[in-house]
Amino acid sequence: MPPTLVRRYLKPIVFAACLLPLLSVLWRAFGLAGTDLGANPIEEIQDTFGQWGLRILVITLAITPLRDWFDAAWVVMLRRMLGLFAFTYVLLHFLTWLVLDQGFYWSGILADIAERPFITIGFTAFVLLVPLAVTSTNKMMRRLGKRWKTLHRLIYPISLLAVWHYYWQVKADIREPLIYLSIVMVLLGWRVWKSKSRSSSRVTVARGAQQNAHATTPRRYEEYEPAKSAELSGSE
Ligand code: HEM
Repeated sequence: MPPTLVRRYLKPIVFAACLLPLLSVLWRAFGLAGTDLGANPIEEIQDTFGQWGLRILVITLAITPLRDWFDAAWVVMLRRMLGLFAFTYVLLHFLTWLVLDQGFYWSGILADIAERPFITIGFTAFVLLVPLAVTSTNKMMRRLGKRWKTLHRLIYPISLLAVWHYYWQVKADIREPLIYLSIVMVLLGWRVWKSKSRSSSRVTVARGAQQNAHATTPRRYEEYEPAKSAELSGSE
């Protein structure tokens, strides 16, 4: 897809789609058109934000594999926006818990974070997401250089923690967390496979280059590096 189409049409559509869960919560909170948030409105708000935070996080994680599987470089243009929406929903999920559920009752908040493992895990995932959101600007990308990519690899443990958090808070039916876990494992497993096959093809290229060098200047190389020459050319 041409970048202008993505910028002009697809990005605004995805932006509007990502806003829908928030608008639906607001719509129901104000009781518009006879709707409501059900018997437990705080839980409903918190669950909606948590679910969408997780969904968009997983979609963000899927961008690189989708680009490679479908040879669709343009999907990368949606990644930052999706990542920021994931963060926004997780932030709203956290704030709902902090303000509406706990009512800023700090000793209860600290006790929950320290003593309820699923909250500890969720909080850790949230804290790790903060630097990713803060460094998502072009300026920060330029300033951090190579370190930016390393920092943003935090998304891998974050997605596992997020699924773990969901799994631990589910009381009976663990099918949904397991579906998320399978998707995340495929997305992460594929990255591991890609980096392994890339490093083994790098070795093959290096060997090929070595063999060429060997063919043109055999004596010189063997004179200086006999052991290495055998090792690289695989002629051991
Ligand atoms: C990356 C971070 C996080 C993600 C993706 C996430 C996602 C979720 C999801 C999907 C649920 C289940 C909702 C449902 O049952 O339908 C959930 C529940 C919950 N989360 Fe999180 N969460 C995150 C961080 C946090 C943080 C930081 C806190 C608070 C410190 C928190 C507190 C809770 C609580 C209390 C529930 C249970 C709500 C209930 O009783 O239904 N989460 N979260």
